[in-house]
Formats: sequence, C-alpha cells, structure tokens
Amino acid sequence: MPVNLKGRSFLTLKDFSPKAIHYLIALSKDLKSKYRAGIKGDLLKDKNVVLIFDKASTRTRCAFEMGASQEGAYVTFLSNSQMGKKESVEDTAEVLGRYYDGIEYRGFKQSLIQDLAKHSGVPVWNGLTDEFHPTQILADLLTIQEHIFKPFEDIKVVFVGDARNNMGNSWMIACAKLGMHFVGLAPKSLWPNPKLVKEMQALAKETGGKVEITSDIDKGVKGADVIYTDVWVSMGEESKFPERIKLLKPYQVNLKMLHKSKNPHVRFMHCLPAFHDTKTEVGKQIYKKFGIKEMEVTDEVFRSRHSIVFDEAENRLHTIKAVMVATIGNV
Ligand code: CP
Ligand code: NVA
Repeated sequence: MPVNLKGRSFLTLKDFSPKAIHYLIALSKDLKSKYRAGIKGDLLKDKNVVLIFDKASTRTRCAFEMGASQEGAYVTFLSNSQMGKKESVEDTAEVLGRYYDGIEYRGFKQSLIQDLAKHSGVPVWNGLTDEFHPTQILADLLTIQEHIFKPFEDIKVVFVGDARNNMGNSWMIACAKLGMHFVGLAPKSLWPNPKLVKEMQALAKETGGKVEITSDIDKGVKGADVIYTDVWVSMGEESKFPERIKLLKPYQVNLKMLHKSKNPHVRFMHCLPAFHDTKTEVGKQIYKKFGIKEMEVTDEVFRSRHSIVFDEAENRLHTIKAVMVATIGNV
C-alpha cells in the first residue's frame, strides 16, 4: 500500500514509521524490476536535484546520479561550495531551495543536514553523516529480503565493530522499527550512545523487536542470520587507527566468528568500502605500520558464499532512487 512521503526529508529512519520503511523497500523492488526490464522511467522527469558531498563517496554519489537520471531528473554535483565557509548553512539552504526540488547531503554533523532541511523548504536526503546512514539501511533491508526467506521479525542482525558509528546507530534504529533482533557487538568503549539505546529498546518493546548491546562474541553471534560489519575508523576519524586496531582486532569478522553463529546459512554484510586486503593505499599503510593485512573482515569471509556485499551495493541504486521518487517524484 503506497504511503504518501511527498515533500518529506529523509534524514534518519527515526522519522519514519515501519509502514513507510516497508513501502520504500517495496518501491525499490518495483524500480529494480523496471530497471532490469530496461524500462526508462519518467517518475522524476524535469526535477532538479543537487548533490553535496563534504566526504568521499563511490556508491552513494553514483546511485543518486544514476537513479535521478534514469527517471528523468537533472543533477548538479556540488563539492566546493561556499556553504559553511563564506555563507551560512541557512543562507545556502534558502538559495538551493529556490533552484532545486531536492538536496542530497553527505558530511559530518547531523545538525547541519537538519538545518538544510529546515531552511531549504525542499526534501533533503541524508547521504551519510557522522550519526546516521539511512539510505544504506534501505539497501541492506532489500538485500536481506532477497536472500533470507523469513519475515524481518524473525531475523537477528549482529552489528560487529564500531557499534557507535553511523551504521551501528542506523541498524539499531531499523531493527527497533521493524521488530527485528539487533545485537551491537563491540568492546565497551565503542558501545552506542546509551540514550539512543534506551530509546530504541523502548521502541523495540512496542514492535516485538529486541535491542541488545554486548561485548561477548560467543553470546552475541549465536543464532545470527546476518553478521554485519563496517570500517573500524570512519571518515573524519583517521587519527584513531592505532587505538581501534588494538580494540577491535578480537572483533574481526572471520570464519571462526561465522561458525560461532551455528547457522550454516549466516550472511555476511558490509556497507563497503571494506579493508579485507592490502589492495588500497590505506590498507598498504596499515600493513606497513601495524603488520595486519585485513581489518574488520578477512578476505576469506569477504569472498565466501556467505558474503552478499555486492548485491547490497547494487541495491543502493534502487533504494536511493526510491527515496527520491517517493519524496519528490511524479507519483
Ligand atoms: N556504502 C557507502 O556509502 O559507500 P560510498 O562511501 O562509496 O558512498
Ligand atoms: N562508517 C563509515 C561508513 C562508510 C560508508 C564511515 O562513515 O566512514
């Protein structure tokens, strides 16, 4: 059943009802089938969108550009704007809102994207902030639906690693909203904000879900349907490598951890990019400095039959397109 999301910003999943989240996943599925069938759409015909990236991106930027153009929108990519430097966020938002139908923002503070939404008067989409990465979750949920043939309510997702980062927070919210079982598995110093945990535990009580935070690996991964991890050091925190490597080495996702789930069909997921070998500049530097070739996930797991990371990446396109179509589209 369609849910009317016209004119809404997409800043965090906290703002969306379970029904709206289900609708966005269903819409993504439809758009994916249409794309696969080679049908060119006009659901964003003559719309103008601007994409602002204050942090690096491959998937998110490409998904917004491709998603918009496949449905007939025009895209401006803005990387070196005046915003925040010579012009306030408020003034920039006022200007962009007069030109564009929608604004995507990737950057640091959640408060900045909230201000953009408040002052632009058009839908603003969160392409990742320090706190949340909601479009990634939609792609992850669609991928789970495609690979695990159980209702969301019966699925246990274990987020391992830096459980207080944007992905950890966003997964906790998604599970609480959809009645899923969430485990944040991390050393104590990387547990999520207790206020958010409390809020999500209360919500999970209403939806039939469960939100647990633990540092106990055996207990945490037992019965997992999905073991999810992310980089140990997020964008903007690069000085933290030495302490994170020390803290998170025992939480690396390897085959031994997968076996501890006792689920032969356990899936491995990661938002990407991932440090699973030394084929990157950072990977090489880390190897030189710390003597490790893999960080959050071993190459063996990354390439194993358990891994669905590239299906997940593919689904960024369809889910991001769905967010734009639902909020500014001709539907
Ligand atoms: N997962 C994700 O957001 O990828 P990018 O950083 O490449 O956009
Ligand atoms: N937590 C990561 C996610 C990248 C998609 C970061 O913020 O760098």
